Amino acid sequence: MSLSFDVAVIGGGPGGYIAAIRAAQLGFNTVCIDDWKNAKGKPSLGGTCVNVGCIPSKALLESSENYERVLHKFADHGIVAKSVELDLGKMLARKDKIVDQLTAGVAYLFKKNKVTLMSGHGQFVAGGESYQIEVVEGDKRESLSARHVIIATGSVPRALPIAPVDNKSILDNVGALSMSEVPKRLGVIGAGVIGLEMGSVWQRLGSQVAILEAMPEFLPAADEQVAAEAFKILTKTQKLDIRLGVNIKSVSTTAGGIKVIFADKSGDAEMEVDKLIVAVGRAPNTAGLNLEAIGLKTDSRGFIEVNEHCKTQAPNVYAIGDVVRGPMLAHKAFEEGVVAAERIAGQASHLDLLTVPWVIYTAPEVAWVGQSEQQLKAAGIEYRSGSFPFSANGRAKGLGETGGFVKMIADAKTDRILGVHIVGPFASELISEAVVAMEFCATSEDIALIIHAHPSLSEVFHEAALAVDKRSLHI
Ligand code: FAD
Ligand code: NAI
Repeated sequence: MSLSFDVAVIGGGPGGYIAAIRAAQLGFNTVCIDDWKNAKGKPSLGGTCVNVGCIPSKALLESSENYERVLHKFADHGIVAKSVELDLGKMLARKDKIVDQLTAGVAYLFKKNKVTLMSGHGQFVAGGESYQIEVVEGDKRESLSARHVIIATGSVPRALPIAPVDNKSILDNVGALSMSEVPKRLGVIGAGVIGLEMGSVWQRLGSQVAILEAMPEFLPAADEQVAAEAFKILTKTQKLDIRLGVNIKSVSTTAGGIKVIFADKSGDAEMEVDKLIVAVGRAPNTAGLNLEAIGLKTDSRGFIEVNEHCKTQAPNVYAIGDVVRGPMLAHKAFEEGVVAAERIAGQASHLDLLTVPWVIYTAPEVAWVGQSEQQLKAAGIEYRSGSFPFSANGRAKGLGETGGFVKMIADAKTDRILGVHIVGPFASELISEAVVAMEFCATSEDIALIIHAHPSLSEVFHEAALAVDKRSLHI
């Protein structure tokens, strides 16, 4: 007998698990189908984010920053640590424990909200009044039908054919998060978000890291001034060797490691590394979904096409998260999950892609929301901008983290905030105030009029707002 549901969610990552929980909260009989298996071959909810993405990377970033603080920063506070040792096994075990706790947390939330979980690969069999879906797990095949479907199948690492990943010596994010030894020499292809975060982790733990980036600009999606400051700190203070405008010519395995031959503005060069991380972007994942059975196609880049409410062209079918347009970020997937479930319930929910914050968890962190100066210039929009450095802030001095600044950009006529760009300590937390301000259509003057606690990093945000009107107080 085929099982029947109101809503079937395919994929149990941030998009899918939130969509399933919200659909169940709204009274729908909901199933979530997920095929993720952990290293022990056990089902593990949470998708890329919890298993091999946001969560484990942030755990290792924190551990490696602590290690670096003990080695290089505590002495300045008068704390002398003799004989510091790295227990990498314990560091990785801590990361794995956090992942296990959070995947178990998602399973608990499914039980609490009465979401049915089906472990296995979901594929469409047919459309019509309701959708027929088959769930395949090894030799086992189960069928179900659902009136509404939310596709949340996420993304996979983009392959670089000249550097095929084996997760032994050439690694994607999965291998980069679980190296059992610190490689002496680590190469990274791609100075994007994963390259910078993973490069930082292993550099702090002792690797000599070289990051090879194809683009001539560093972080082209970020505000140019922020990207320039981040580049300066990451290369000069952090000593990450980041090479821009690189053309990778070949990658080969040698007796001594992996040889990468490339060309950059100085000409042809080669380097030998012990491990190589390939982080050249991610591609939407629709493999084995059999979208043809319900008449759905992907666009030229492989994304499922949706409207602003995540609705596909197939009736009652939504798609969310990394498998659709927009930034590949967990919080964007979460929100789309809520929108899809609430739209199915007939509500008028929506999300604004312009106020999705970006964070890169390097040290210092980089975060932004809204438009950059170069985007506004290209669009011919007149603006005023104000910046304030962390070096003039008492809390930043106490923390010993004085690099970077907050920059606010506001419309020249209306003063409405158009973008906020931060490079500096706890940028990931500070950016939330900017998101709230933009969601409420605040002006820079609104922020200038708000009392910010002293001493706190948020004062730098306040001073950046004052700087828009050229009236900073502490500089
Ligand atoms: P996914 O998380 O990819 O989940 C999709 C799920 O669907 C998976 O469990 C998959 O196995 C399953 N699935 C796929 N096809 C099927 C099928 N046919 N049947 C059944 N199940 C299927 N984002 C941030 O916002 N902050 C961060 O700090 C951050 N750090 C990251 C670090 C790394 C190293 C990586 C790789 C990514 C990071 N991201 C981060 C991005 C974030 O992980 C993704 O944006 C997010 O996971 C997307 O969620 P999703 O639900 O769309 O897809
Ligand atoms: P990315 O798109 O951020 O960066 C990939 C980089 O590789 C780009 O700079 C690109 O120019 C470069 N590149 C592409 N081909 C190349 C080649 N042949 N040689 C050299 N360089 C090349 O992608 P990344 O880092 O793989 O991460 C994927 C996505 O995962 C991110 O875009 C982001 O959406 C998400 N993510 C988010 C994080 C966060 O929010 N903190 C952390 C990690 C990932």
